[in-house]
This record gives sequence, structure tokens and C-alpha cells, in this order.
Amino acid sequence: MESHVGHVRIFDTTLRDGEQAPGCTMTLEEKLEVARQLARLNVDIIEAGFPAASPGDWAAVHEIAREVGSADGPVIAALARANRDDIEKAWTAIQPAAKRRIHTFMSTSDIHLEHQFRKSRAQCLTIIREMVGFARSLCDDVEFSPMDAGRSDPLFLREAVAVAVQAGATTLNIPDTVGYLTPDEYGAMIRDLHEHVPGIEACTISTHCHDDLGVAVANSLAGVRAGARQVECTINGIGERAGNASLEEVVMAIHTRGQFYAVRTQINTQEIARTSRLVSSFIGVPVPPNKAIVGANAFAHESGIHQDGVLKHRQTYEIMSAETVGLDGNALVLGKHSGRHALRSKLHAMGVELDNDEEFQRLFESFKDLCDRKKRVDDRDILALVTGELQHAPEIFKLDHVQYTSGSSLIPTATVRLIGPDGQSHTDSNQGTGPVDAIYQAINRIIRRPNELIEFSINAITEGLDAVAEVTVRIREQGVSSSSDGENIGASTSTAVSLSGRRSAQQIFSGYGVHTDTIMAAAYAYMAALNKMLAARQERIKAEAVVYEVLGVKF
Ligand code: KIV
Ligand code: ZN
Repeated sequence: MESHVGHVRIFDTTLRDGEQAPGCTMTLEEKLEVARQLARLNVDIIEAGFPAASPGDWAAVHEIAREVGSADGPVIAALARANRDDIEKAWTAIQPAAKRRIHTFMSTSDIHLEHQFRKSRAQCLTIIREMVGFARSLCDDVEFSPMDAGRSDPLFLREAVAVAVQAGATTLNIPDTVGYLTPDEYGAMIRDLHEHVPGIEACTISTHCHDDLGVAVANSLAGVRAGARQVECTINGIGERAGNASLEEVVMAIHTRGQFYAVRTQINTQEIARTSRLVSSFIGVPVPPNKAIVGANAFAHESGIHQDGVLKHRQTYEIMSAETVGLDGNALVLGKHSGRHALRSKLHAMGVELDNDEEFQRLFESFKDLCDRKKRVDDRDILALVTGELQHAPEIFKLDHVQYTSGSSLIPTATVRLIGPDGQSHTDSNQGTGPVDAIYQAINRIIRRPNELIEFSINAITEGLDAVAEVTVRIREQGVSSSSDGENIGASTSTAVSLSGRRSAQQIFSGYGVHTDTIMAAAYAYMAALNKMLAARQERIKAEAVVYEVLGVKF
């Protein structure tokens, strides 16, 4: 008997709250790829970015709206502070989408009003009334968030939300901005607004919970139990500080315990694993093995008692199946003798779309190369190759040749040859503390752009000695001055978007490499990160030119 009632909208903010977190930089192409994948995942709303932050952010939102915002696709939302300029920029950026939403916010907690905004409560209500009204004069779908609702005076919060409802907000999003509340408190806050704000029954109440105390998902679900019908969340739970509620956990909790929550979502759960992997490789943040739903161990039964039980009857220790989240990639699929046609049909079956024949050809070559090195090539290997291909790190410098020596009594030494943007080849050598260090130093001698390696991680995609290694690196560009000279506008940064709306210094770039030779995977990952760093400046300049000159939007 179908006992689920009600639909909970999934509002994905990976490209806004997620992307503005330290080091979660994505290029425009990567943001587009994530947006396409979110559409396959069938999220209801994609918050594509914060257009007033920079011309680059505006351009990314505009492009996503154009490409992904079709009539049968998701709603495309853009964030705006409660001022006319931000709201106008959000509105122009989402123009090409068939279904558009302006999301505007204003703090309502005394601590924010006094110390950050220097506004009285009365002024705060005036701003909400005027700016929600202005947004509504442009767009039929307006979301308002009372920022730091979790620490706001409950009676003032009721008042602020009521003003937003009167001014035309259609969704009221209630953020626990600093992740302070317990599930009981968060649920009670939602219930209180539900019961006491006149007119709110015609609107959607939404949750937006941060994970500072590790309860973002529990709080969001408590919000759903109390009547919220939209959950804001991110893939892998990325976001400011400890992150946001993780989409995969919220969705699978509702999927698995649908009768308890008495709601359902429209998410295509089989796309969850792929989406998680894509985001993780783009931002260079590996998913911890014990992460619920998408961690490598989430469906692995290690202890003898558990294995025995699962073999006898799966549900003895499994509350959901790996297949439901798209983790059925262990089947042997292709090998040395598989040709283009077999790879194409496999990609099709996996739901992978490549942009053009050139991308397919590169992927096919990597696949053939892999088959020479590895006997059993399964879905996980193919997904890793695809992820590397979709990384869209522009190849300003191409890694053409790597040679290294290392050993217990040898000084690690590497020689690399790169092809530069001018088509010329550049060769250099260096010694290092190990082969990876020697390669990285030789590359740096050619590229000459100061950077610091801040993270390096290796993961084996499959079991066995011939497993494909995936390496993720994160580098911080050095010698970059503050945003006041315009240098950093448009790139994600370790300090993210400030209240002034501008991004600040210390840009972090990630790179991802896959190869059966771990050292080679490390070399590719470093090249990808360096190329992103080099391309960031070009992209900023291009975005500024398009936004200023072609579209006439001023920053
Ligand atoms: O956490 C928060 O309060 C936000 C708002 C902008 C919705 O991200
Ligand atoms: Zn947030």
C-alpha cells in the first residue's frame, strides 16, 4: 500500500554554497558538467551561483540557465543579497532558463544585525519588505532566507517571515547558518513558523542546515517531519565550513524510510554515486571511505558474521542496496578486444554523454591503454577514465613525456617534456625527495608559476595489484595579491565570497589523474591543477569582457 504523501523538493546548492567553500573551485566547464549531472539526478532546483560575486560567477549562472534550464529541466535559482543591484544581476543571469527563481536573503539574528549589518530590527523588516517585493516584481518564483534564523529571536523571526510572505515570497527557507541547533529545536522552529505565520500555508517552507555539529542531515529531516517541503543540500555535503546537509543522505533517508517521513522525492537515486564521484574529482576532495551512501565502505561487509548473514539473506545487514545508488559497477564489462562500438554502448548504458568525437577518441585511447595494463576492466575503471576526461582542465601545457629513476640507493630524478601553448616542446630535469617530488619540480622549472602543494591523495579504484590509481592534488597559487586590484575576482578562493560580494585571495586549484602507474597518475593530477591555475586568469578576463561588453552588465 502506498502510504507516502507529499513531495519534498530537492534544492541543490552544490554550485553556490558548496562551490564557495574553501578550495572547492570549479571552472565554468566543470560547473556546467555538474549542472548537467544534477539534471540527470532529477533535482527540482539547481542554485547555480551568486551572480553579483563576480563577472565569472554571473557568466557561469547564465550559461547553466541557457544549457540546463529547459522547460522539462530543473528550476534555475540564483542567490542575491537583499539589495537592488544583486537582485538585478541574479535576474539577468537566470534569464535564459525556462523556470527561474530569485533567492534573496537578509540576516534576522540580533548578533548579525548589530555587529555585521549595523541595522535595527525595524530597518531589517523594511529591507525584507522592499527587496522581496522588488524581486517579486521581476520574477514569479521568489525565495527568501532569514539568515541565521537558528539564532534569531523566534518572535522576530515570525515577523520577518510574515513580512516576506506579504511581500510575495513563494518559498521561505529557514537557515541554521552556523549549524547550532539540535534536531528537536530545528523541527520546533519549522513547526512554529508553519503554525504562526499568516499566509505561509500557500508557500513552501524549506530547510537549509549547516553541519558544524554534525547534525545537518538530522536537522533537515526533522524539518521535513515538521512540515518543510523543500530541502537545501549539496552533493557530498560540501559547503561553508563543515558543509551543508548531504543530498545523498537526505534523499536515501527519505527513500529508505519513506513511510516514516511520509514523503518522497523525485530523485533518480541511481545517479547518486556518479554525481558524488564527479563533484569529488572536480573539487579535489576525496569522499571518506566511511561516508554514508557514497563512501567506498558504505556497502562493504567485512566481518565474518556480517558476510555470513548477507550471503544467507542480504537484508540481514543491508537496509538498502548498492544498486539503488548506482554502485553496481563491479561487473566485468570490457577487455582488450573490445572496440569503439562496445565502449560506446557501455557509456550509453552508464548514462555517460561525451560532448564530441574528440573527447570519445581520447577516452578510447585511455581505455585501450588501460586494457594493456589491466586484465579486468569494470565500470568503476571506466567511470574513473570518464571523470578524468570530463575534468575539463584546459591543456595550456600538455604532459608529453615523463621519465624517472628512484630506488633505495638512487637519488630520485625526473625528466619531463611539456608542450607549451605555442606548440613548442620544453624539457627539464630535477631531483627530489622522491619520484613525485622530482617530477613536480621539473614541471615547475618549465611552467614557473609559484604554487604550494597543499594536499595529495592516492586511491585505488578497484582491488588487485593492477588496480587503477586515482590521484587528487590541491595547490595554492602563490604571489597573488588581494582582491582590491581585481586579480582574484571570479575565482573560488580559500576565504570564499565575502559580504562585499567579492572573492578574496589565496586561490586553490585541484587536479585529478588516473593511471595504472601511480607516479603517472600523480603527474597528470599535478598538470591538471597547474593548467586550471593558468586558465583561471584567462577565464576571468574572458568573463569580464563578455559580461561588460557583450551583455552590458556592470560590476
Ligand atoms: O547558510 C546560509 O544562511 C545561507 C543563506 C545565504 C541561505 O547559505
Ligand atoms: Zn548556507
